[in-house]
Amino acid sequence: MSFKIVEQAPARLNRSEQAVPGSNTKFLEKAAAGDADVVFLDLEDAVAPSEKEQARKNIIAALHDLDWSGKTVSLRINGLDTHYMYRDVVDVLEAAPDKLDLIMIPKVGTAADVYAVDMLVTQIEAATKATKRIGFEMIIETALGMANVDEIAGASPRNESLHFGVADYAASTKARTTNIGGPNAEYGVLTDPLEDGSRAYYWGDMWHYAIARMVVAARAHGLRPIDGPFGDIKDAEGYRAQAMRAAVLGCEGKWAIHPSQSTLANALFSPSEKEVAQARAILDAMAVAEKEGKGAVTLNGKLIDYASIKQAEVLVNKAKQVAGG
Ligand code: GLV
Ligand code: MG
Repeated sequence: MSFKIVEQAPARLNRSEQAVPGSNTKFLEKAAAGDADVVFLDLEDAVAPSEKEQARKNIIAALHDLDWSGKTVSLRINGLDTHYMYRDVVDVLEAAPDKLDLIMIPKVGTAADVYAVDMLVTQIEAATKATKRIGFEMIIETALGMANVDEIAGASPRNESLHFGVADYAASTKARTTNIGGPNAEYGVLTDPLEDGSRAYYWGDMWHYAIARMVVAARAHGLRPIDGPFGDIKDAEGYRAQAMRAAVLGCEGKWAIHPSQSTLANALFSPSEKEVAQARAILDAMAVAEKEGKGAVTLNGKLIDYASIKQAEVLVNKAKQVAGG
């Protein structure tokens, strides 16, 4: 272990993160009654410019009038390059102090972006004598944000999570796709000719680098890495596959742009009984090994050692968090 201790963000369940446009009061009501771990009330890209002001009003009313208990509630503000952003923060925090848990900063590009929002939020919290300290979630969705992902992750003690915003990231990097997430048939490899002369084509995951890079930056700063949206609402199998590969890489959750996706994410980002049983077996076997003065043993023919204890603890601790204990 390094001498530097990485402080962990406050532990929150973040298996599903549901997006709800602030302009749609019906959707706001549905989200409050839904099963998502985190709901973000959107003032940014799902809200037309002509509706921004009304959306702020709807969100303030929803924060006061709806029952959000059992959920983490976030506010996606507009980007720092717009003239909406300061009013998003000022109007909502002043009118509904102590109601939000998180603020989501979209299209973050530098540590200074986070610093600027931190300054504003800190002043408002002091002025309103807020008792709840707001945390930050940052969407990594531009080439600049990805290039500066480490400094962004470490920019404020309020930081809790990094999110991969695949749609804006594709636009920013000028990737050749108009899908929101998901695979691309053009991104693959053709094998050399096989014995019978045929060649196989394997699709790759064009988002692998971006997600893996974000996961490393998030974990290096004690933050939760969260995978972003998957646009094909009807394709549950596709959503499952995207979520699972993000979970395997270390993400703690995924966005839901429809309530059905939050139900899927909750299940997919909870470790399965089989995984937890295997993790417990590793911990038991290592406890016996330790008593016998051994640092490494085999379990079902596979080597396990002290690193295996840490891997197993990740799963067991997540299962405890899901169970609420
Ligand atoms: C999310 O904001 C995205 O751009 O994918
Ligand atoms: Mg975006």
